[in-house]
Amino acid sequence: MDSAADLALATVRTVADLRRIVARWRQGGKTVALVPTMGALHEGHLSLMQLARQHCDRVVATIFVNPQQFAPHEDFGAYPRQEARDAALLAGEGVDLLYAPLVTEMYPEGFSTTVSVAGVSEGLCGTFRPQMFPGVATVVTKLLLQAGPDAAIFGEKDYQQLQVIRRLVRDLDIPVRIIGGPTVREADGLAMSSRNAYLTPAERAVANRLYAILCRVADAAQAGTPPAAEALATARESLLAAGFRSVDYIELRDAETLAPLDRLDRP
Ligand code: PAF
Repeated sequence: MDSAADLALATVRTVADLRRIVARWRQGGKTVALVPTMGALHEGHLSLMQLARQHCDRVVATIFVNPQQFAPHEDFGAYPRQEARDAALLAGEGVDLLYAPLVTEMYPEGFSTTVSVAGVSEGLCGTFRPQMFPGVATVVTKLLLQAGPDAAIFGEKDYQQLQVIRRLVRDLDIPVRIIGGPTVREADGLAMSSRNAYLTPAERAVANRLYAILCRVADAAQAGTPPAAEALATARESLLAAGFRSVDYIELRDAETLAPLDRLDRP
């Protein structure tokens, strides 16, 4: 068993320190992967670190609870922060460096730029959390430019976010390969998420139904009977019947552009 000292992880908080270390690795011919997170790590995040290791020689994890992607009424203040625990987990996965900047490092006084990605940011979560994707696009652009990695890894759980990031990297000619990591689920099917900690026992008891119902509607859409619109309406009813208070959206979308589809004739 590794001792706590063996598991200590080098941590930097400034762009200058991050760049110095990455430059040294590059001089030694090493490739670098970046895995951005907001901390409160779970097995889903750790699977992204493992994926990063498979693709590159060195792995940089970032922990930054990004104020720009939270609306004033959202959970920025309450978002779980547990850096010491997270750092030990990252060290256990063989991560080489933790970049955990302060808000003032990322957004110094006078900061005035927002990256906004039309199309893929619209609809779905973009309707319900309009601040989120501009905030995500801005911070991810900064992290990519700060670290200059060969590859960056993001979870498929936040699928719209992943497509927003793929789009911005293409549009801004950022020379990095974006790799999506498969969703990791609890034994009963609930996708792992730092925010699952907010669920009450009663909410947790029904949360796993979401995955079962999504699988059912996906199978129905694939089979083409009943028509997709009907399958989606049934899924919505099933979610409400299962105990969800409301359904923000359940839709059939093109996997790349996220354009609405009325039948499943492409990924
Ligand atoms: O998915 C997340 O944890 C965040 O949205 C990200 C990509 C780290 C940007 O803050």
